[in-house]
Amino acid sequence: MPAKRIDGVAVAKEIREEVGRDAAVLIARGVVPGLTVVLVGDDPASAVYVSSKEKACVAAGMKGETIRLPADTPQAALLALIDKLNADDTVHGILVQMPVPKHIDPQSVILRIAPEKDVDGFHPVNVGRVWIGESTGFAPCTPAGVMVLLERAGVSVAGQDVVVLGRSTIVGKPMTSLLVNASATVTVCHSRTKDLASHTRRADVIIAAIGKPEFLTADMVKPGAVVIDVGINRVVDPSTPKGYRIVGDVAFGPVSEVASQITPVPGGVGPMTIAMLLKNTVRAAEQRA
Ligand code: GUN
Repeated sequence: MPAKRIDGVAVAKEIREEVGRDAAVLIARGVVPGLTVVLVGDDPASAVYVSSKEKACVAAGMKGETIRLPADTPQAALLALIDKLNADDTVHGILVQMPVPKHIDPQSVILRIAPEKDVDGFHPVNVGRVWIGESTGFAPCTPAGVMVLLERAGVSVAGQDVVVLGRSTIVGKPMTSLLVNASATVTVCHSRTKDLASHTRRADVIIAAIGKPEFLTADMVKPGAVVIDVGINRVVDPSTPKGYRIVGDVAFGPVSEVASQITPVPGGVGPMTIAMLLKNTVRAAEQRA
């Protein structure tokens, strides 16, 4: 029987509605949860992401503001803007869209954002809070979204063997910490892992975040496993109008024949990221209110 598809669009809609209700409670108390996104430069993909974040905030009844700075903005000017936003009581969440231009050090930017407003969950204080399971910490939005998808698909990871493919700072590492805190037994595989398939083949749950198109094939998956695909890869396809198509890190068709549940790309993990950003922003406002 083919795997059940986990519908990220539907779950993200539920989360956005829940966030809207939580925002309304705060607004009734005179606090409008506000997210400020800072975009340095004019990278077209970043511009699209940033405008969808702003629109999603407004749709949830929150304040969404975007500050656009020229690509040659000095690092000191960006840091001074962050200081101003840190001190602004109407701003609950701050997100500096990555990547920043080459002359700016991303780590200096992340360190400057007050941890209480770091709704991206990139500041080392939040990394630490999430690792030790402290509820005030903000987890990065994509792995937090994966946890919600698993929960709402009825998958309890407690005691399960979970394999995370990829060890990035934004997905693989925080994913590991959220899973360990949910009592999973976690194996992290990466480019230097020996016999990677020997790990994936005994996994009850596989989270693929390795950035390689259709890397996880059916022979690497145990029958009945749950497969979550975090990948977004562009592959050349002259038969499509744009000349490319988007695929995940999982060979969706063949793996669907083996897995019990699977997320599609697009329409799986992707829509969860903005939903979780809104959720973190409302939580930041609640924690300050
Ligand atoms: N660029 C792409 N995704 C993200 C994200 O989640 N946060 C930030 N700050 N920049 C990004």
